[in-house]
Amino acid sequence: SCLLWQQHRNINYEQTSIVSCFAEAFPVDDVDGNFVRTVKDCIFSKSIPTPLKGPLRLAAVSKEVVEETLDLDVVLTQSEDFLQFASGGKLMSGSVPLTHRYGGHQFGYWAGQLGDGRAHLLGQYLNRKGETWELQLKGSGKTPYSRSGDGRAVIRSSVREFLCSEAMHFLGVPTSRAASLIVSEEPVLRDQFYNGNVDTERGAVVLRVAKSWFRFGSLEILAKSGETDLLRKLLDFVIEEHFPSIVSDDPDKYLVFYSTVVNETAHLIGQWMSIGFAHGVCNTDNFSLLSITIDYGPFGFMEAYDPNFVPNSSDDEGRYRIGAQADVGLFNLQKLQEALNPVLTQKQQRAANMILKGFTGIYQMRIQQLFRGKLGLRDEDEEDGLLIALLLKMMEETKSDFTMTFRQLSEASQLQLHSRNVSQMWALYDLSQHVHFSDWLRMYLLRISRLKKSRSFNKKCVNPRYVLRNWMAELAIRKAEKNDFSQVAMLHRILASPFVTQTTAEDAGYASRPPRWSQRLKVSCSS
Ligand SMILES: *[C@@H]1O[C@H](CO)[C@@H](O)[C@H](O)[C@H]1NC(C)=O
Ligand SMILES: *[C@@H]1O[C@H](CO)[C@@H](O)[C@H](O)[C@H]1NC(C)=O
Ligand SMILES: *[C@@H]1O[C@H](CO)[C@@H](O)[C@H](O)[C@H]1NC(C)=O
Ligand SMILES: *[C@@H]1O[C@H](CO)[C@@H](O)[C@H](O)[C@H]1NC(C)=O
Repeated sequence: SCLLWQQHRNINYEQTSIVSCFAEAFPVDDVDGNFVRTVKDCIFSKSIPTPLKGPLRLAAVSKEVVEETLDLDVVLTQSEDFLQFASGGKLMSGSVPLTHRYGGHQFGYWAGQLGDGRAHLLGQYLNRKGETWELQLKGSGKTPYSRSGDGRAVIRSSVREFLCSEAMHFLGVPTSRAASLIVSEEPVLRDQFYNGNVDTERGAVVLRVAKSWFRFGSLEILAKSGETDLLRKLLDFVIEEHFPSIVSDDPDKYLVFYSTVVNETAHLIGQWMSIGFAHGVCNTDNFSLLSITIDYGPFGFMEAYDPNFVPNSSDDEGRYRIGAQADVGLFNLQKLQEALNPVLTQKQQRAANMILKGFTGIYQMRIQQLFRGKLGLRDEDEEDGLLIALLLKMMEETKSDFTMTFRQLSEASQLQLHSRNVSQMWALYDLSQHVHFSDWLRMYLLRISRLKKSRSFNKKCVNPRYVLRNWMAELAIRKAEKNDFSQVAMLHRILASPFVTQTTAEDAGYASRPPRWSQRLKVSCSS
């Protein structure tokens, strides 16, 4: 590893140094200037962030990320220096800001070169726990990959990313994290619903961190352009840095790598499904090689259970509907396999086919496991699949709320369930309107009675009470746009303990029936 780091806790971040491993490890496009171009034979381009125009304001900060990941005292985030650093106005010592060249399949088709169009990688940071994190700014201006974009992000999309990536972490889902959100007075033009109504919104920058930002598309572009040496180099790098169990002289190492990504991706999508999360844009460039959730855009948490739930209101065909995520995962993994083909022998390619075929089985096994957990079943029974499928079918037909039905099912005592006394529980009440509810409940109670131990829920990681519902984010965003960030902070705090009932959350109605107006809400695509 090429990291150097000295411990600097509680001192000015300016003495914190990060290094740009990548600038040493890979050929870097040296062409100067953030003008849009086709880039060849490199993984990154140098690109200086365009500072946000002031006055700047720290709109949100994650104390945990700042202190536990970046080793900074959160008090320092109040300083003018931090505002500058976290919005692209100032660089930490050692930082060589880079933008990543990648490609990808968008909505099923090869889209050629994409790349970081509004993000800058500041460098890697090795923290005192010995973890390496890549720091990235999003919304930090034009890059060689901006295509037609302006490289900016607005408050709306930035608040959504900040809150959701943090919420996902606390829900136990592998994800990138957000450290801070800086907003400015700089006007940015956006056509929120692509209907010709252009509005002025304000620019914002999120400082986000991940163990790695490499995507399926990072490899795809190299394979598509015939840059096989670079492909191998990037693969070796990713494997060495992030897949320590793979031995570097294993002749099958790329195959083992592929098999790991297939497995982890199946697990990740299983987790998304278990909390009703729809990513919204599952293009291959939005799928991480480390199988963490990245690129929060028009995502959504499903409310009424519906496999056809589509969070992106412009995704008319519903390609990325929630119920299709596993299929899309399979498609993306197939594209990843194609990207690996140049470094695999014929025999290994056939083995990779077999590995890919295993995806659906792994996914289904994981889903069963997760949903058994959601029902408090600690062991396995042949009929569990049926029990789960029937419940979901009833939920679909009664439009029961996904999060709260499971939550209330776990909160209801067995006595309450026996007496069908669910009128005080709104989501379960909705479900109870189904003609087969009583039959299902009988089946469930019978199943519970056959358990070796009693029904039990892992209260720390199963059946959250609060998820980032679209309307909750919307209310916080409306205030944020008027410079009131209190609700962003409140949501951030509440979503940090999604499994624990909290008075402020209950008072805000976060576990209540969603307000009527929320049904008319569309997720804006503009970011
Ligand atoms: C698959 O991934 C899961 C989740 O990370 C992990 O627990 C499991 O051990 C992996 N299985 C294999 C065979 O690698
Ligand atoms: C996902 O991928 C597309 C390109 O395929 C990109 O334009 C978009 O910014 C990515 N992220 C999100 C959140 O949509
Ligand atoms: C939403 O879907 C539309 C239609 O497929 C697509 O053009 C658009 O890029 C998607 N939005 C985002 C943010 O990716
Ligand atoms: C029904 O359950 C509620 C709690 O949700 C409890 O207060 C009430 O006493 C129960 N009613 C009956 C008839 O058991």
